[in-house]
Amino acid sequence: MAATQQNASIDREHWTGRIGFILAAAGSAIGLGNIWRFPYSVSEGGGGLFVIIYLFFVLGIGLPVLLAELSLGRQSQRNPVGAFKALIPGKFWPYVGGLGVLTGTAILAFYSVIAGWTVGYLGKSLSGTLAEATDGESSGAVFSSFVADPLWPVLLSGIFLAITLLVVRGGVAKGIERATKFLMPALLILLIALAIQALTLPGGIDGIIYLFTPDWSKLSLNVVMGALGQALFSLSLGMGAMITYGSYASKRENLWKSGTYIAIADTGIALLAGLIIFPTLFFAGAEPNAGPGLVFVVLPTIFNQMPFGSFFAIAFFSLLTIAALTSTVSLLEVAVAYFVDEKGWRRNKAATAISGFCFALAVPSALAFGAVPQLSGGEQSILPFNLDFLTLNNNIWGNYSLSIGAIFICIGVAWFWGVPKFLASLEDGEDRTFPMPGREVVGFLVKIICPLCVLIVFIFIIVTGNYF
Ligand code: PHE
Repeated sequence: MAATQQNASIDREHWTGRIGFILAAAGSAIGLGNIWRFPYSVSEGGGGLFVIIYLFFVLGIGLPVLLAELSLGRQSQRNPVGAFKALIPGKFWPYVGGLGVLTGTAILAFYSVIAGWTVGYLGKSLSGTLAEATDGESSGAVFSSFVADPLWPVLLSGIFLAITLLVVRGGVAKGIERATKFLMPALLILLIALAIQALTLPGGIDGIIYLFTPDWSKLSLNVVMGALGQALFSLSLGMGAMITYGSYASKRENLWKSGTYIAIADTGIALLAGLIIFPTLFFAGAEPNAGPGLVFVVLPTIFNQMPFGSFFAIAFFSLLTIAALTSTVSLLEVAVAYFVDEKGWRRNKAATAISGFCFALAVPSALAFGAVPQLSGGEQSILPFNLDFLTLNNNIWGNYSLSIGAIFICIGVAWFWGVPKFLASLEDGEDRTFPMPGREVVGFLVKIICPLCVLIVFIFIIVTGNYF
């Protein structure tokens, strides 16, 4: 066992360096979760209240779970299933990794549909059709007819999965790292430019008030669950993506430092997206309840208001496409690492088979916005809770499954692997320049607070039956 473990760690491909690792992990975290899912969850959760609970969860649960996952991966040098096998005895724990592999695959299926919409909107901005949507109503109409099409959304999600497949087949350092290195700074600069534009729109200030003023009367279990799910989803937690990426990190890395940077970058970009969407929404006089189409309906307004708007539209949708790609790559990589490490499959075979499977799962989500009324959550829908197929999957896998995964990762790490080993491995790196304030606090959060908080939310939900 010891020998194979050592071999695995020697043969295993690694990030080329510190910056490469941070950028790749930040690339996984930053994606549609920040720019599509965050604003839309804020609008469903009633604005500032959601944001405050989300920020609280990022700090109190997200960051500790992120550190737990990274150290689990780096220490074991394995995929999520193998990591538990290697570090924690008992038949139960590999199933936690297995749930992660399943969850990642299910998330990838609906995520690639939204990523496909992004590519579609890139096409629209290149061809100039986006510029024709001049007000909230007309851009809403453009969106509805685009997503109701029976062909394009399916085709585009397939194309997106195919591109993801190509990157993952290229391997960790060459494929994944290279794509991320120039993207992050470019995306950040563009978002800042858009936020400045949005903040100067008349009425924009109402958007800021909406984003940061909590209306406590809106407090409900669904808001709390949504914020918890969003904190985990946005940081790519609860399903082993960060275990897998940690497993490609070298022993030189100071994970405490990397984890903190990743969390700051991810949360900052989500808030920046909020600073773009909500001022624009209030300027356009629309109601913040556009559902999963929110960003696609609101953004054309700002592009139409800006000098060189079509240039900004093209730049924005290109960067969002790449940001989504660095996230889909990490989603696919989890299952690929599992089949390669545990089942001995070749990388190409694993990546091809899993992305093919994901495409089959993506089709019903791609058809859920009008093409097949039975999947739409509307009157003819055959689905429970009046939700369309994509939203249903987004809630089940993106909120519930990630939260269950996070509970078990915390319990496994803190109670069975042990807090002292976990903390020691966090600081393993040669780079000890970063101060680690409150080491014990992190241990306590992972051991007691995180599992307890999530458990309480679950108990309330089960008792009250307020699932969605
Ligand atoms: N964090 C990614 C995003 O915000 C999505 C993701 C979730 C990626 C879970 C990997 C694992 O877009």
